[in-house]
Amino acid sequence: MAKKEKNFDRKDLKIPVSLGVIMDGNGRWAKKRHLPRTAGHRAGGESLRELCRNCGNYGVKYVTVYAFSTENWSRPADEVGQLMKLFVEYFNKYDAELEKEGVRVRFSGDMSELPEEVRNTAREAEEKSKDRDRLQLIIAINYGGRREIVNAARHIAEKCVSGEIKPEDITEHMMSDNMYLPDVPDPDLIIRPSGELRISNFLLWECAYSELWVSECLWPDFGYEELTAAFEAYTARDRRFGGLSAGETE
Ligand code: IPE
Ligand code: IPE
Ligand code: MG
Repeated sequence: MAKKEKNFDRKDLKIPVSLGVIMDGNGRWAKKRHLPRTAGHRAGGESLRELCRNCGNYGVKYVTVYAFSTENWSRPADEVGQLMKLFVEYFNKYDAELEKEGVRVRFSGDMSELPEEVRNTAREAEEKSKDRDRLQLIIAINYGGRREIVNAARHIAEKCVSGEIKPEDITEHMMSDNMYLPDVPDPDLIIRPSGELRISNFLLWECAYSELWVSECLWPDFGYEELTAAFEAYTARDRRFGGLSAGETE
């Protein structure tokens, strides 16, 4: 792709309020360079820094990034351990930068299974950043869409058992309210770098009407140009939500 001048004020561009990103392709990026997979994850962390800056400048309000899935535990213990270390290092090292960018950090996923150090770092990062309001960065870690839905079902079932509600009171709205972060809007756009055409258990409930955009670019190579290309594609989409196009009556 030709290099573009950075222009965050493009009036012709529709910017998603809520964006989801499946940060995939770190391993392939490293392999191409004959580097260990961990080097790819480290480079992926740099891409995340850039994504935060670009999303803030474009005026995105929420960006949910898929950092570790409930299925990623099946990787070699060494890779999992290195990833956990990287999460801790990242939030300790970049907090000042996130503060400068006005980034509030939140986590989505089953935190109870994570090493204590990661849980503590996550709690601190959330606490330190809770009053920032330019951009919310949601890290999906030990996240699985199915697990999130099961978790919501359990909460609702408990209310049924206690008699607080009846099964017929359960609505889509109630399900949404029982997801991990109910105040975060469903993603308008989900970006998947690295060319895979699948959702890999990311935001299953929330993605019902998300626009999807896939790029061959591997996550460590993903920058302003790819983000802009994704927003250009998003701008051209006709979001009908099951209805007709705006202004169309027959
Ligand atoms: C994504 O990159 C990072 C995580 C899943 C933690 P991968 O590690 O899946 O990279 P590829 O898909 O093997 O290239
Ligand atoms: C999805 O990537 C999970 C994250 C990016 C954290 P994977 O590499 O785990 O997905 P699959 O295995 O290609 O579906
Ligand atoms: Mg992958």
